[in-house]
Amino acid sequence: MTTAPATELLGLQRPGVTVTGLLPDPSWATRWDDIVVADEMKRRLLGFGLFCLTQRGAHSTVGLPVHGLALLSGPPGTGKTTLAHGLANEIARTMSERGFAQHTLFAVVDPHSFPSEFLGESQRAVSRLFNDTLPELAQHGHPLIVLIDEAETLAVTRSRASFDTNPVDVHRATDAVLTGVDRLAEEHRNVLLVATTNDERAIDRAFLSRVDVHETFELPPTNVVARILVDTLSRLGVRLSAGDPQITALAAVCVANGADARQVRKMVLQAVVSNGVDLALAPEQLRVDHLSAIVDSLEQTR
Ligand SMILES: Nc1ncnc2c1ncn2[C@@H]1O[C@H](COP(=O)(O)OP(=O)(O)O)[C@@H](O)[C@H]1O
Ligand SMILES: [Mg+2]
Repeated sequence: MTTAPATELLGLQRPGVTVTGLLPDPSWATRWDDIVVADEMKRRLLGFGLFCLTQRGAHSTVGLPVHGLALLSGPPGTGKTTLAHGLANEIARTMSERGFAQHTLFAVVDPHSFPSEFLGESQRAVSRLFNDTLPELAQHGHPLIVLIDEAETLAVTRSRASFDTNPVDVHRATDAVLTGVDRLAEEHRNVLLVATTNDERAIDRAFLSRVDVHETFELPPTNVVARILVDTLSRLGVRLSAGDPQITALAAVCVANGADARQVRKMVLQAVVSNGVDLALAPEQLRVDHLSAIVDSLEQTR
């Protein structure tokens, strides 16, 4: 086993993947704390990640078939990618606190390295990722959390693959993902894969069946939108309560218009920047009226 200190691996780039985090990193804490989802979801994800990275090594993959694969699915703008980062940091923080590992590596798979338009290329690239690159990273012995963002680009449902593009390649690339996930699970128990998708139906069923924990993200309901509005406003120094009837009313309009959490946060920004120089330079002066005008425009554009 080649054991490089974790600190030397940060920034390491290999075909298809880059080590973007040496965790825990206190500046990543907001990616966990500020994403509003059910507490149980956070608890399950954290429990799963910790179990995988600390306990799984002692069990056979037949008796306890853990692949070390979590899937976060749901509409865009609901916090999947951000929470995947936050989860990695929270796992790393807990493992460091409890003396399991001082550092955890966080690596991100680059979907652009798998160009489906080139016949044969994507299959080779995917095989290389799972058979060479990730095992090489894992061999350093540090816990490794790998984000496969928008996994539908990698594990395309074979039944939906378009037969006039490059069906053979799509099938082979998906097969390469599946055998790769199996091999990683078998040989490298220090790896946790966190995949996200905006379109679960586009993911191959065989990939889905390997998922150990599947969490579904939803568009935020009124009380969550209200919390996100209040949280975003507080960043600008505007203090309001989520129970404030004006905020609840705005949140209800957001929900009625199908706004996602990212849009909700951006509406606060829009309210600041579309009301003149004075407000842009002193955003703490923002009032609910400014925000109402933006939220109302949601209704008009529908
Ligand atoms: N559930 C949420 N709670 C609070 N903020 C959220 C939530 N979901 C999204 N956001 C905001 O939108 C941004 C983008 O979310 P992102 O993680 O990219 O969503 P996704 O990956 O589901 O498209 C976040 O960084 C955050 O500012
Ligand atoms: Mg995302």
